[in-house]
Amino acid sequence: MSLIKENIKDLLPSSTLLINEMCKEMSKAGKTIYQFGFGQSPFPVPEKIVEALKVNAHQKDYLPSKGLFELRKSIAGFLTRKGYKNLNHENIIIGPGSKELMFLLQVAFDGEVILPVPSWVSYAPQAIIAKNKYHWIQTEKETNWHISPEHIDQIASKIESKNKLIILNSPNNPSGTNIHLLKELGEVFTKHNITVLSDEIYSELYFKDNYKSISHFHENTIVSSSLSKWAGAGGWRVGYFAVPNNLIEIFEKLAVLGTETFSAVSAPTQFAAITAYEEDHSEYLNKSKKILHVIAHYVYEQLKQLDIDMIEPEGGFYLMPDFTRMLQNKFKNSKDFCKTLLDEAGVAVLPGSDFGFPVEKLIFRLSYVDFNGAEFLKVKDSDITEENLVKYAPKIVDGVQQIINFAKKYA
Ligand SMILES: Cc1ncc(COP(=O)(O)O)c(C=O)c1O
Repeated sequence: MSLIKENIKDLLPSSTLLINEMCKEMSKAGKTIYQFGFGQSPFPVPEKIVEALKVNAHQKDYLPSKGLFELRKSIAGFLTRKGYKNLNHENIIIGPGSKELMFLLQVAFDGEVILPVPSWVSYAPQAIIAKNKYHWIQTEKETNWHISPEHIDQIASKIESKNKLIILNSPNNPSGTNIHLLKELGEVFTKHNITVLSDEIYSELYFKDNYKSISHFHENTIVSSSLSKWAGAGGWRVGYFAVPNNLIEIFEKLAVLGTETFSAVSAPTQFAAITAYEEDHSEYLNKSKKILHVIAHYVYEQLKQLDIDMIEPEGGFYLMPDFTRMLQNKFKNSKDFCKTLLDEAGVAVLPGSDFGFPVEKLIFRLSYVDFNGAEFLKVKDSDITEENLVKYAPKIVDGVQQIINFAKKYA
């Protein structure tokens, strides 16, 4: 008899981590691998924040489970400066990455969960672990790979539970696109009394400057983010939720679950994170965004010569091409497609099925971060151009060509 609970016995390791391990093995064996599978920032943590960590290395005490007061205050200030309303430190809870807070939210939440397709890889497994019933909403390229108000009207009428939680992610992992119909969606969420978890982990990497959050259009919205993407500090494990006053019941229960699980986030990184949210990092961020934008545009323009469906990314580090029309019947499913691409062309990407798409859709997520971010950041602004990618991001250029050759061979 299995020692494992029924609801989690079929769960596999998170596919992003798995693909990274596979790539490491293949690289060790001497194969050239284009690592477009793993969603990690290519840039180093800003120097000022690293210095703050050094200065705080001696911090050794357990901190309050909700997080260091000064950090909570600085995050509330940071969000307020960005136009978020009615937030102070009492609305901010710190976790070991935003992922853990999302998990605890699913543990605490009594109701059903709505997940747009595509969705980040961990939302559905977390619902499974927490035994929450969840519903996929298939979206289309025509709605920018995000939900429309009509989708919500339809699904809301099917859900029995009076409590409903939807998880949104904009800029999106895997599609790289933003939600555009914020006002209309806000209205429909309010009409159906839906609680929103707005995963805004890529908002600082939105290529334009006027990022708008769904929280401005719907009060019952929890905003989630962390240091992992914009500050390149995924390994530091500092994330937060901003929970509005009318969801304080959720906030308090997350805090209780924190005391019974992770206790408190590492003290030195919390002290260092104050610098991340109090000081100005616009030079670092503008350059990071410019590099990512130039690469995104390049990859999009190159792949566009194929007969595929794709939307140009608006932020973050992902792009999601759909080869279903071009390569119909050439592969069993998206996993087989991606495995063949890795075996034959050395290009690692993640299959669309990991993000909720039906397996027969030949979609993958391409993460365009296989370049030396530290070196690229040293380049003069005016030299951050598509022509210079051969020099500063050669694996992007070669890897994209490999994809094009591979697709043409099978078409
Ligand atoms: C969309 C999205 N949400 C959440 C996370 C979790 O990030 P962290 O736990 O490092 O804050 C990630 C990380 O890959 C992500 O891509």
